[in-house]
Amino acid sequence: MVASGTFGYAREMAGLVDLARLGAIIPKTITASPRPGNPPPRTCETAAGMLNSIGLDNDGIEAFVEHQLPYLAGIGTAIVVSIAGKNYDEFLQMAARLDGVPGVAALELNISCPNVSGGVDFGTDAAMCRRVVAGVRGVCALPVLAKLTPNVTDVAAIAKAAEEGGADAISLINTCLGLAVDWRRRRPRLGNVLGGLSGPAIKPIALRAVFQVARAVRIPVVGMGGIAGIDDVMDFLVAGATAVQIGTANFYDPTVSMRVLDALPGALAELGARCVGDVVGTLNTAPP
Ligand SMILES: Cc1cc2nc3c(=O)[nH]c(=O)nc-3n(C[C@H](O)[C@H](O)[C@H](O)COP(=O)(O)O)c2cc1C
Repeated sequence: MVASGTFGYAREMAGLVDLARLGAIIPKTITASPRPGNPPPRTCETAAGMLNSIGLDNDGIEAFVEHQLPYLAGIGTAIVVSIAGKNYDEFLQMAARLDGVPGVAALELNISCPNVSGGVDFGTDAAMCRRVVAGVRGVCALPVLAKLTPNVTDVAAIAKAAEEGGADAISLINTCLGLAVDWRRRRPRLGNVLGGLSGPAIKPIALRAVFQVARAVRIPVVGMGGIAGIDDVMDFLVAGATAVQIGTANFYDPTVSMRVLDALPGALAELGARCVGDVVGTLNTAPP
């Protein structure tokens, strides 16, 4: 799958990627009302990654349904719609609005964005996480993925709460909260001061989170964070992810998802596996 916020609304990638080969497309998170996002600069490059503070810039759910979904629905791959509510009621209203809308295969609840004030509460408090997932579950029949933040002490506890609330899968990780400084100007490099770190720099954190969560829940885990090639994908599968998403790598190599799909059968064969399921969670942690 391609990760939310890193693939536009897919249209701009159509000439570069055979979109129908993707397992799913997760478009940029939508909110109930249009949002202008955070002040620029909104991105900056860092060692082995990037920092962003987009701030959920989007045109709102109605514009998405009217202008983006018809195109997305015709691609021939699953469209997982990422939603973020300002509060409990807004999450439920958005989920109810999308329930039964043609072209929507599942919802990913973005309860993990570090770039909006109040946005991350649902992902850092187990009780709030359980409640919002259960609420969404109650108003919509779509499969629900809860997307979690690594910016917590115990990510497995939050994942368990999402599972108890009725989530069908856990996606993780969203970005790691970070800061980039231009010391000569004594200024932060991002207009919003803090931002979310992504790319290869966060892969060990993401693998750790996937490993811990996969052992704590029974539902599938969708892993992401720094995936840029087949070796990264295989690391995530072996660590416990049932599926993966690719984010930042799309920016510097939009064809990365195709490369990974081409290489997957060979990598599975190296392990004597016939399918992805044969390798999921097979990490051997016994002392060497
Ligand atoms: C520029 C940018 C925008 C993003 N926007 C969103 C978003 O709208 N919703 C979301 O759930 N995640 C968003 N993310 C997070 C990614 O989906 C992903 O969880 C994270 O970047 C880690 O994966 P990666 O290292 O492969 O990028 C964004 C990431 C970047 C770099």
